[in-house]
Amino acid sequence: MCGIFAAISDRPVAGVLVEGLKRLEYRGYDSAGVATIDDEGLRRVCAVGKVSALQQRVEAEPLPGCIGIAHTRWATHGAPSEVNSHPHMASGVAVVHNGIVENHGELRQRLERQGCRFLSETDSEVIPWLISCAVADGSGPARAVRSLGEHIEGSYAVAVMTENDRNVLHAKRHGSPLVAALGPRGGYLSSDISALAGLADEAVVLSDGDQVELRRDAISVFDKSGRPVLRARLPIDAVGEHFDKGGHPHYMLKEIHDQPAVARAIEARYDKSPFVAEQVALDFNQIDRIRLIACGTSYYACLVAKRWFAEVAGLSSDVELASEHRYAPVVADGQREAAILVSQSGETADTLASLEKLRGLRTPTIGIVNQQVSTLAREADFFLPLLAGAEIGVASTKAFTAQLLVLARLVAHAAEQRGQRAAARRLRAALGEAAKTIEAVLHNEAAIVAVAGILAKARSALFVGRGALYPLAMEGALKLKEISYIHAEGFAAGELKHGPIALVDADTPVVALAPSGDLFPKLASNVREIAARKGKIILLGDRKALLALSDVADASLTLPACDELLQPIIAAIPLQFLAYHVAVARGCDIDHPRNLAKSVTVE
Ligand code: G6P
Repeated sequence: MCGIFAAISDRPVAGVLVEGLKRLEYRGYDSAGVATIDDEGLRRVCAVGKVSALQQRVEAEPLPGCIGIAHTRWATHGAPSEVNSHPHMASGVAVVHNGIVENHGELRQRLERQGCRFLSETDSEVIPWLISCAVADGSGPARAVRSLGEHIEGSYAVAVMTENDRNVLHAKRHGSPLVAALGPRGGYLSSDISALAGLADEAVVLSDGDQVELRRDAISVFDKSGRPVLRARLPIDAVGEHFDKGGHPHYMLKEIHDQPAVARAIEARYDKSPFVAEQVALDFNQIDRIRLIACGTSYYACLVAKRWFAEVAGLSSDVELASEHRYAPVVADGQREAAILVSQSGETADTLASLEKLRGLRTPTIGIVNQQVSTLAREADFFLPLLAGAEIGVASTKAFTAQLLVLARLVAHAAEQRGQRAAARRLRAALGEAAKTIEAVLHNEAAIVAVAGILAKARSALFVGRGALYPLAMEGALKLKEISYIHAEGFAAGELKHGPIALVDADTPVVALAPSGDLFPKLASNVREIAARKGKIILLGDRKALLALSDVADASLTLPACDELLQPIIAAIPLQFLAYHVAVARGCDIDHPRNLAKSVTVE
């Protein structure tokens, strides 16, 4: 959610800044901007929309200067416009900001009384004014940046430069991610380590409260209290690993096709050693209840895990949206809990707030995270990596299946500890089939394209499932609305008759997740209820299930038969394909759906 990139070099930095922003574009693409300092002082160029629009501007009006800051914006305060774009400037100070200044109204009024003149509607613009006022009062830039903590309520990562000192970039983080790195041509700051690929070999990961002074040839980090501190350095992976679409037209399609490889990577890491036991020092015999917490797609993965925990490990669990959990009343019922927080990015603000709350309650926490360089991965008590590789498409695909696969591994481990050996063995055996079963579904893409045509014409669509496929119905609906903008809702099939069936008509396709299994007869009845109301039915099931409902299906997609425990993982693939091909048919911007961002670092 907003991307920060900054550079200080021995040659002009505008080009490298724009390239950096392109790599951070998944964080927001409402507008982008860059500022540098050259002999004539600060210069800023901004453009509404994607970074490519900014790139055209920068090519048309070259921006000299060997020090610069840049930003790609996901609008919170104020519409996407040039004036609301970062960098924001005030009396020789330029700032890019990621986060939210919650008390900006009050700060703005105070600063206006002191004569500061605001140009934008953003919360962020108070930051350059706070710094420039502190500098005017005699603070050096570093002290002025440090003093932000005294004024700002909310979260921030900032990169700052001042006209008076072209040799230093200042930065500070409080609740929003930031890394710094030194390469052969200079120093860099970035919201995400992967954007630094090709520029440096390793990055310094800043902790909350850290402040940085970055020169061409040195990084100095100071902790909350201003003491110099050494922070962990992590290797930066090669460029190709992150930004190659592998010959596919969109990252999303590439990432759908990555899934067998992700399943194999997880299998290799989690199956061949007692990996979960090494990572998670918890005794599941001493735990009465699991609390699963996440947002968005990751939340649906947790809902599937709830069923697995109950069925395979005999453990009950509660699943909560992080945005709700963080403010929910705490019930001290004496139950011994462990919490599992699931996140692709590891930086989702609500999920991190839940982590903080759980820490206060002394609940042990397990982070299941894709981005290994992230706050959740670092700060949860225990960490299980997703191993999905960089996921760039805003709509989550391979990270979701990786979440399911890793959660299932954790469930199998808990089941084993609790003496449910046969159930654990069954789950592990099913997981062993995951990669090749996913591959079989990928081969079915052509059939999915034909079915996508039905959905592409709809104004609204329903998805239904039962048991562990109910969360998949919600995930399928979320995927469709995220990238095709078709209104879609996912329901428990048995709930349809309690209200949503009123929406069913000949123009509202219903996608029914209907593979064979214990719940199939119940779901089949629900499908017939829909057919009786002239609903257009798209069935997803194995051959046997499809045959049983062939008289009412308008279209069907064949899933390979597999253990019921594996079904939610396998069903994810056609739902992703379906959303993708519907969005393609409707001419949508697949990797950059409107209004969304991949990493949501604001509340
Ligand atoms: C955003 C993304 C979703 C994602 C959710 C949670 O809304 O667009 O794809 O599921 O955040 O993100 P996380 O990184 O915590 O899994």
